[in-house]
Order: sequence, then C-alpha cells, then structure tokens
Amino acid sequence: MKKALVTGVTGQDGAYLAQFLLDKGYEVYGAYRRTSSLNLWRVQFLKIENHPRLKLVEFNLLDASNCLRIISQIQPDEVYNLAAQSFVGVSFEQPLVTSQTTGIGVVNMLEAIRLVNPAIKFYQASTSELYGKVSDKLQNEETAFYPRSPYGVAKLYSYWITKNYREAYNIFASNGILFNHESSIRGETFVSRKIARAIAAIVNKKQKYLYLGNLNAKRDWGHAKDFVEGMWMILQHKNPDDFVLATSKAYSVRDFVELAFSFVDIDIEWSGTGINEVGKNSKNGETLIKIDSAYFRPAEVDYLRGDHKKANKILGWKPKISFKELVKEMVENELLNI
Ligand code: NAP
Ligand code: GDD
Repeated sequence: MKKALVTGVTGQDGAYLAQFLLDKGYEVYGAYRRTSSLNLWRVQFLKIENHPRLKLVEFNLLDASNCLRIISQIQPDEVYNLAAQSFVGVSFEQPLVTSQTTGIGVVNMLEAIRLVNPAIKFYQASTSELYGKVSDKLQNEETAFYPRSPYGVAKLYSYWITKNYREAYNIFASNGILFNHESSIRGETFVSRKIARAIAAIVNKKQKYLYLGNLNAKRDWGHAKDFVEGMWMILQHKNPDDFVLATSKAYSVRDFVELAFSFVDIDIEWSGTGINEVGKNSKNGETLIKIDSAYFRPAEVDYLRGDHKKANKILGWKPKISFKELVKEMVENELLNI
C-alpha cells in the first residue's frame, strides 16, 4: 500500500486530493496546522473524516524540525505540498507571512526529503499567478513569469526551489502550474464562492447587495476534483517535470456573476461605469451588485488562460467538468445549505 503525505489537508485541494488518494487505495497522512479550533469541515463535507486509511497529523510547514520529523516518521512514497497562504488579496496585507509560508517554507520540506530519503516523490502546488502580467494569449510551460503580488512572488521562489532540488539532488520533484479551480468547498473569500454564497443569501432575503471589485479580470476556471487527479498523474509520470493544468477557456468575473445569477432565474443588466457600475435585476430594476474599491488589488492579474496540451499529451490529463457545470454546482450547494 502506497503512503502519501498531503500538506494543507484542511484546504480545498487537500481535502479533494485526500479523497482521491483514498479511493486509489493509498494510506493518506493528512497534515493539518494546529489552531485553537480544529477546522475539518471540508474533510467532513467529503465524508472521509473517519476513513480507516486517513491519518491526520499535526504539522507546520514553517517549522523545519517538524517537517524533518514527519518525513522520517511517516516515510511516505509521495508528498503533495499544498500548504500555503493562498489568498492573493491577503498577500498584499501580509507579505512576510506569505513569503515565509508560500515561498521559503517549501525548502523545509525539500530539505527533509533530501536528508531522510531522496527517493520520496514531491509535488509542489505552483500556480498560474506566476504568469501575472502576461502578454501571451495562452500560457504554457514556456511562457515567461511576471508575478504581480507577494503571493505570486513567493510562488515563484517555491517553483524554482522545487526545480533546483530536482536538478541539484536528483529528487523526483515536480511542479503543477495550476490555473484557478473551484468547488463547493472553496474558501469563502475567493470570488467564485463569494458570488455563489451571496446569490443564495440574496434569494433568501438575508443580504441585499453583492459587493465586488474588478469585474473585468479574466480567469481560467476549472473544478478542483479534476485538478487533484492531475496532481496525482504528475507524480505517476516516469520523470519529474512541470505541467500546466487548465481548462484553456477564460471567463471574466462579470461572466461568472451573470451565469451564476441565471441559475436562480435572474438576468443581470449592467449600468454605470467604474466604481459607480451596478448590476440590476433586469425584470424589476432592483440593484443587486455594487462595486467596492476595497476589493481592488494594488496590482491586478488581468487575464489568465492556460494551455494544457503538454499534460494532455504526456499524462493523458484533461478537465471533465465544464465552467457551466461548476458554477451550477456551486450555486445549488449554497441554496441547499443556507
Ligand atoms: P486553501 O484552501 O487556502 O488551503 C491552504 C492550506 O494550507 C490549508 O489547509 C491551510 O491550513 C494550510 N496552511 C497554511 N499555512 C500553513 C502552515 N504554515 N503549515 C501548514 N499548513 C498551512 O488553498 P487551496 O485552494 O486548497 O490550494 C492548495 C494549494 O494550491 C495552495 O498552495 C495554493 O496556493 C495552490 N493553488 C491553488 C489554486 C486554486 O485555484 N485553488 C491554483 C493554483 C495553486 P488552515 O486550514 O489551517 O488555514
Ligand atoms: N476575492 C475576490 N473578491 N476577488 C474579486 C472580487 C472580490 O470581491 N471582485 C473581483 N475579484 C477579482 C480579483 O481581483 C481577481 O482578479 C479575480 O476576481 C479572482 O480572484 P480570487 O477568486 O481571489 O482568485 P485569484 O485568481 O486571485 O487567486 C486564486 O487562483 C490562483 C491561480 O490563478 C487562488 O486560488 C490562488 O491561490 C491561486 O494560485
């Protein structure tokens, strides 16, 4: 039975990946950060909390001794490093914590592997935020990086240190450069879940307006379930390498809002410009969406659209869940659980 260590198991991807690996027959060590109240709601949502092959272990990526101990005690076959301060907006307010956790912290894990057993395979959660101020219409493994946030800059470090340990010490260390992926267990502050939650609250008269920032940013949005399968495929490939996982379709935040509202039979009509733009219910003229400048970022990533040809050709990976299905699932889940 293969053993996998998944850091960030309390996060969206960690929970989905743990479920995926359990289904594959792995013994899964789900590493979570100690906090005053243990936060296992995602693991519970996916109904794996009491799975006999899921072992939850306390862990902090920032503590090198902890990384070393955990790797030598568990002796995993595969490590998936998903732990990070993952919210781009917060990284502008907490640049040091973000740099330490999302950037430097990764060395703790790589060093532990190097010291304990360099045969352990390592997956690093890299990101399309690396591309940032991008000029190419479609971004692939060859596209130049130009991160636009402390989060993106920290991920640039973790991307390169992963590649460096591969080249310097021959460790099976791979980067998955993942474009945005969402689900019903996405963090509440990310725009997809924020929109879905607001719609359920508006329909149930618990909230009047949905406040948003930049409506025109475009993202390549897929479903987390598809993407965790890609993470696993990356570590099953015969060589360590770096792969883009994306849907290759881009939609704006505005498109997301319009589609999400369509699932509660509301057609959105926009009027006004800039900070004064509003989104109204076209049937009765009621204002539902307003702009709040607090949600604008000091430097924005305007357009992300990934080219997953390499992953498709070499790994046989492709996304299965469409943008429409994703948004529908998210809105329906919020309506059910409000
Ligand atoms: P998430 O929901 O924010 O999960 C992040 C996880 O990291 C949480 O479990 C968090 O624990 C944990 N963590 C934070 N600091 C830690 C520390 N010092 N020690 C140990 N654990 C720590 O993020 P996600 O969406 O699942 O993303 C997973 C990874 O993929 C992240 O590295 C993210 O940057 C990257 N990524 C995500 C996307 C995406 O669209 N989702 C795209 C590309 C890359 P708590 O629960 O205690 O906070
Ligand atoms: N969060 C948020 N809240 N974003 C908003 C809002 C709002 O009210 N209004 C507009 N946006 C815009 C942001 O400015 C951004 O352009 C876009 O919506 C998406 O924002 P997020 O959902 O916060 O995600 P992200 O693209 O910044 O980052 C996510 O994807 C990355 C991969 O590209 C995170 O999961 C990162 O960890 C991940 O690396």
